[in-house]
Amino acid sequence: MAISDELRALESEALAAVGAAETLEDLEAVRIGFLGKKGSLTAILRGLGGLSAEERPEAGRVSNEVRRSVESALDAKREELERAARASRIAAEVVDVTLPGRARPLGHQHVLHQVVDEIVEIFSGLGYRVAEGPEVELDYYNFTALNHPADHPARALQDTFYVKDLSGDRAVVEGESDVLLRTHTSPGQVHVMETQQPPIYVVVPGKVYRRDVADPSHLPQFTQVEGLVVDEGITFGDLKGTLEHFVREMFGPDRRVRLRPHFFPFTEPSAEVDVSCGICGGSGCRSCGGEGWLEILGCGMVDPNVFGYVGIDPEKYTGFAFGMGAERIAGLKYGVPDLRHFIEGDTRFLHQF
Ligand code: DAH
Repeated sequence: MAISDELRALESEALAAVGAAETLEDLEAVRIGFLGKKGSLTAILRGLGGLSAEERPEAGRVSNEVRRSVESALDAKREELERAARASRIAAEVVDVTLPGRARPLGHQHVLHQVVDEIVEIFSGLGYRVAEGPEVELDYYNFTALNHPADHPARALQDTFYVKDLSGDRAVVEGESDVLLRTHTSPGQVHVMETQQPPIYVVVPGKVYRRDVADPSHLPQFTQVEGLVVDEGITFGDLKGTLEHFVREMFGPDRRVRLRPHFFPFTEPSAEVDVSCGICGGSGCRSCGGEGWLEILGCGMVDPNVFGYVGIDPEKYTGFAFGMGAERIAGLKYGVPDLRHFIEGDTRFLHQF
């Protein structure tokens, strides 16, 4: 067979093999088989030198043609296989952007904490600092230093949760322990005055505990915010003005404040503070029990006896204090008639705020 026929036969063999290649690896094997160092076309090209001078130009031309045609067939097929590989990879990785995503439920601050933050914020705006005290407290801070006489009814067992001292140092009969769960945030006042000198402007937010059965207006655990100011020349007028400011910030500019004389052991004089009903504006309706007013806090001028316990000079300084229940404030602000909603954790209630 003439060498050019041999080349043409090899060409069709190569083109058929290229056409049959199904993967890039197949194709590379075909290339090596024909055009590699030991490939069949390479072998023929090497033999061209042994041809006669007449045969050589024709054989050279045909072999170049064959090589080019096989190379371009290889290139075209490689491109085709690469395109197919890319397409199948894309098909395998496809993301259905129309599928609904995974919903991650997002929490939010409990309404009570929102209200406590709001109360603290209002007093921060007046320059008050925030202090905290322990929830497990000594009788001394909860009662004695707050001028509760030894036989004061607030010390009675039904109001206070006592904590049994298990350290073994002291034999404590239940109900006679001097360790208790604080029944109000007022002991925070004593801690602050023990450690700071006037001028003192603080609020003390925190949880308090009482031996009460939960009902619409009582909870065994609830939240108070205490306030204390001690400075030179503080008067009852300062107390009233401060509370009026607080009430307007908290409930709105139209609300009025009323102080009623009251008794607390640690303040003298003392008062309870009412805010005008937001529904009837003070004329009396069902939501304020016909009163026109709603009680929101207790307050008064710090009793000189309390200053005596903490070593502050009552001749030089005067002060006022107040304490409010955050659940009650929140209930009035949002019209929640039953305080138990605030501790039950029912999301149908909590999602409203
Ligand atoms: N501690 C009182 C209570 O829990 C509230 C209170 C009244 C706090 C008068 C005060 C105050 O600071 O001056 O009922």
